[in-house]
Amino acid sequence: MKFKQTPIPQNLFVHNRKRLAQHLDEQSLVILFSSDEMPRNGDQFYPFRQNSDLFYLTGIEQEKTVFMMFPDAPDKKKREVLFIIEPNELLETWEGHKLTPGEATEISGIETIKFINHYDDILGELMVQNKHVYLNTNENIKFNSEVDTRQCREGRKIKQRFPFHNYQRLAPILKSLRLEKQEEEVNAIRKASDITGNAFRNILKTVKPGVYEYEVEAKVTHEFGKNLATHAYAPIVASGKNAISLHYTDNNDQCHDGELLLFDFGAEYANYASDMSRTIPVNGKFTPRQRECYEAVLRVFKKARQMMVRGTTIESFHRKVANLLEEEHKKLGLYTGKDVENQDPKKPIWFKYYPHGTSHFIGLDVHDVGTKQEVFREGMVLSCEPGLYIPEENIGIRIENDILITVDGPVDLMENIPIEADEIEQLMAG
Ligand code: GLY
Ligand code: MN
Ligand code: MN
Repeated sequence: MKFKQTPIPQNLFVHNRKRLAQHLDEQSLVILFSSDEMPRNGDQFYPFRQNSDLFYLTGIEQEKTVFMMFPDAPDKKKREVLFIIEPNELLETWEGHKLTPGEATEISGIETIKFINHYDDILGELMVQNKHVYLNTNENIKFNSEVDTRQCREGRKIKQRFPFHNYQRLAPILKSLRLEKQEEEVNAIRKASDITGNAFRNILKTVKPGVYEYEVEAKVTHEFGKNLATHAYAPIVASGKNAISLHYTDNNDQCHDGELLLFDFGAEYANYASDMSRTIPVNGKFTPRQRECYEAVLRVFKKARQMMVRGTTIESFHRKVANLLEEEHKKLGLYTGKDVENQDPKKPIWFKYYPHGTSHFIGLDVHDVGTKQEVFREGMVLSCEPGLYIPEENIGIRIENDILITVDGPVDLMENIPIEADEIEQLMAG
């Protein structure tokens, strides 16, 4: 736990629970579990990161936490119950401070805090009083893991103990709530974006031929750590041909004179992600060809950003951006109009130079909840990330900012982070 207490005020979590309650059937019990502490080797665990949905409803970042919500519970004190580990001297001697019930209430706004050893009894009591039980799973379309999650394991146990209840999926409701960011959430993403931008400004001063990718990564990590942030995802520091591999994270090569260096990193602050990509010349000066390619992607980025308005979807937005890139590809001599006429429509030529999507939702997770068919509405935050990859020229360019959808059009949360080719060259020279 980085923060003793999350810097997000409890009203967000109180409000999120109120919004959730409006979407539940009558007499419903919701049960959510914290993430697992993931085993590494020996007696070690990977750093703990709270389950995003549990955090969204409670603000609690501690392990072994369970939340039950039963808005129509006959016993008013059981309408919201948070279960936490019981602090004890031995545990705290080894692991440091654990939340007291008072602290848990202060963070979450939940009045009834129970120690986790009461879980079975209270579950039994609430299960005989409800008509529906909502259980949660990770419904990210790309999630496919051999490792079972705590919420699946515990959910199965509940179903075994109470086989004849009416079980429902919580994930679709939480998805629609999480898609629309509240003010506190946008503030956290803004803060994460600012930390990311400052890290980028700092490394512009230090990149030069001979530096290793991992040295640059270390600088980013240092900047994040100083600001109470972590990496929202494995950072990409990809020089030369490494940038062609879209999710290259080895970051172990030396950066050479004449190469481009592609970054894709983002700070996570108070559990909220940012996601930024930039591409710079290792020696501080783009070659004419590199600049030509960079300007092409930047032009597309600026046009694309303007297209991020209410009513569109990731799917249709991506198609339009691919068309813009196709025009630029032709100008750059990568293929001709005739090649496009003759292409197999199922395998457009642009895909060879742009083999990834243009956008995804951002929030508590870097690839946040929401599908490509979701209609953009106020409060959504998405990436805008066109790119260009030319393997035969060792050119890999991606430009990525995080955009908030508003009634007045797109707001670029990263608009102050250097992006113009001239600006990058000046900062690298200075
Ligand atoms: N950093 C991963 C992405 O841009 O989607
Ligand atoms: Mn990215
Ligand atoms: Mn992204």
